[in-house]
Formats: sequence, C-alpha cells, structure tokens
Amino acid sequence: MTVRDILKMGDARLLRLAQPVTAFDSDALHWLITDLLDTMRAANGAGLAAPQIGVDLQVVIFGSHDRNPRYPDRPVVPSTVLVNPVIIPLNDATEDDWEGCLSVPGMRGVVPRWSRIRYTGFDQYGDPIDRVAEGFHARVVQHECDHLWGKLYPMRMTDMTKFGFTEVLFPDIAAGEDD
Ligand code: NI
Repeated sequence: MTVRDILKMGDARLLRLAQPVTAFDSDALHWLITDLLDTMRAANGAGLAAPQIGVDLQVVIFGSHDRNPRYPDRPVVPSTVLVNPVIIPLNDATEDDWEGCLSVPGMRGVVPRWSRIRYTGFDQYGDPIDRVAEGFHARVVQHECDHLWGKLYPMRMTDMTKFGFTEVLFPDIAAGEDD
C-alpha cells in the first residue's frame, strides 16, 4: 500500500497526452491501481488519474461504495477502474456544476460538461466496459479522462467569475478537509 504524492497544476507532467495501456492483468498495472486507490482514498477524492501521480498511462479510477465527504450531496458513482477510455457525448446538452481537483487543491470552479455520455474502455483485466452515464457520474468520468488528454478543469471553464477558494465558496465543506 502506497499513498503517492499528487502532482499539482503547473507540473508539466499533467499536460501530457497519456499513453495507452498495452498489457492487461500485469503486476505493474495491478500495483498502479493499488497505488491510485490508496492515494484517492487518503485524499477523499471522487476519482484519480494515473498522470496525477506522474504515471504516463491511460488509467483512471473513480467512484466509491459510500458518499464522498468532499461531495456529500452528490450521488454515489460505482467504483470503477477504467483503462484506455473513449467518451462519446449522446446529445448536445451540457450542464454547469462545481468541480474540484486534487491537482488544484483548495479551489472550486463551475465547469460545463456533456450531460449524457457513453463511455467505453477496459478494466485492469482487459474485460470491456461499456456504459451510459448522466449527471454527476458523467461529470466525474469526463473530469478524470480529461487528465489523460492533459486537461485540467480550469482549462474547460467558460466563466472565470465562478472560480475560487473552497473555504470562501463553501465554508461548510472546506471545514472538513485540508486541500
Ligand atoms: Ni482532477
């Protein structure tokens, strides 16, 4: 079990296009996923992408079995390992909502995202994943996969007046966390 350091915005490794995974069910991939899970849980993240711990591979994890203390009013997203993902928007509709990111600590911003998507990819064993998601689930998937294309959520924002410090915007949430 290893809680890894999370890279912060400004680190050039967060801006790379991540490489596809070519070997499934390998020791290296299982160790990577264990580290991602340990690191995400230690930080109470809603998700985490391999580039955030400096690993240049198309691997993200998201979701949990319980509500997330950083997003207490949000629905539960199924606990998922997603490798080599592809996202397809199912219509033109977008919705705005607040996001945070462990690589942008202490901040929140309003980000437009596709409201309804299909996402495909593989789990760590190479078994295919093919799901339709909407709302918060769709948002989390888009946010995490963006890390694989070198995009951080502030780069997706369209209204920078809705960007600020969590402790100012949401003092009740900020009281329980240190990022
Ligand atoms: Ni993030």
